[in-house]
Amino acid sequence: MKVTVIGLGYLGATHAVAMAELGHEVIGIEPDSQKLSSLAQGILPFHEPGLDAALPRAISSGRLKFQSEHNEASASADLHFICVGTPQTKGSDAADTSYVVAAAKELAAWIKPTAVVAGKSTVPVGTAANLKDVMDDIAGFDVHLAWNPEFLREGTALEDSLRPDRIVVGTWSQHSVDVLREVYGPIIATGTPFLELDVPTAELVKVSANAFLATKISFINAMAEVAEVSGADAVSLAKAIGYDDRIGSKFLRTGIGFGGGCLPKDIRGFVARAEELGVGSAVEFLKDVDAVNLRRRDKVVELANQELGDLAGKSITMLGISFKPDSDDLRDSPALEIAQRLTALGATVTVHDPVSLNSLATRSPELSREENLIEAARGAELTILGTEWKLYREVDPQELAAVVKAKTIIDGRNVLDVAKWQAADWRVIALGRNVHNG
Ligand code: UGA
Repeated sequence: MKVTVIGLGYLGATHAVAMAELGHEVIGIEPDSQKLSSLAQGILPFHEPGLDAALPRAISSGRLKFQSEHNEASASADLHFICVGTPQTKGSDAADTSYVVAAAKELAAWIKPTAVVAGKSTVPVGTAANLKDVMDDIAGFDVHLAWNPEFLREGTALEDSLRPDRIVVGTWSQHSVDVLREVYGPIIATGTPFLELDVPTAELVKVSANAFLATKISFINAMAEVAEVSGADAVSLAKAIGYDDRIGSKFLRTGIGFGGGCLPKDIRGFVARAEELGVGSAVEFLKDVDAVNLRRRDKVVELANQELGDLAGKSITMLGISFKPDSDDLRDSPALEIAQRLTALGATVTVHDPVSLNSLATRSPELSREENLIEAARGAELTILGTEWKLYREVDPQELAAVVKAKTIIDGRNVLDVAKWQAADWRVIALGRNVHNG
């Protein structure tokens, strides 16, 4: 099929490559000239394992092309995916849908009557209905608009796109269902459930899935708060409750909490939209989910204060700065916020991260960056593990012990082998855990 993918951020770039891998002819449309020229050269503008190799492959197959705006070539496509961002609005919790609206308007001026438009961006429930009115007016016919949310995770984005748990489509026409079934044909053929829903349900599936995931993480982090004052251990607790199939062990990793470009802004946007619809009280609890999550960041700052007293002039090393491993995404990263707050309190924070130091230089140049792990730890009076990159789990604590000034580490992700670190004479402070340091 001939498809376009409009907006080539994490979601769009991955989706464009995935569509090409499935054998479709894809035109990626992205107005940002820097992003566009990087992608066109086969260079991914962000870190995403697997996608970096798949992008040049898709380009050289001739199935993936890029352009900055619509033209006759893109207008002849059978299916258009809208993948632009819906960030949190400045000064409010609501999702900013202006990019989606702009993309829909531009597309409506070019689209052919038989083409289907599938929105993939995460939007407040009710957005698609408004977009359809706007598009119908501009196009002068009944546009086949559908909503087709995406559930990919950064770090495993391409794999999640090609082998999703389910495909969700919300449609107003059988034609949209047929076209979407065709484009996802090879995935459906492997047994992946294809759910045909109404449009508001499809919109809501995405935000409610993210709200549920955020709630799970905050639940275990709330238990961590209780564990910290009662001598219990939240990691063992998560394991014990996770054996119950009804609860499940996934997304119960306690630590400094969730960040990124999705979960935090999506729960806030959900609350804002529910309030607009007069059902704010139904999702009021998500405010607590957000608050528990942010309190974990406060906790690390408090612990640093307890350990070092006045932070002015103190040397702190942050191991990992991205919001999760296998990503260089710093949006709402808990590790980044903690590093910034410690710096604001007078500490000198040196950051190590295997892939995010370039993005950090642009985002937060006041933080010092060190590419060599041992050098990053040299002279540290406190070390904090902020992102659970594999290399931190595997580092020899003896080697780090030899260069730091004080052998104290806060394990912000509960991934270190505590006994091994203690054997190397480290004091380990683990969130939500009752660790006895000799
Ligand atoms: C999330 C969802 O998991 C995807 O399904 C969704 O498609 C995506 O948002 C989106 O809306 O686009 P992502 O933000 O890539 O994906 O990352 P997650 O794996 O969900 O992790 C989010 C945050 O939660 C990370 O900071 C991670 O460290 C934290 N986390 C995750 C925990 O603190 N504990 C856990 O047990 C799991």
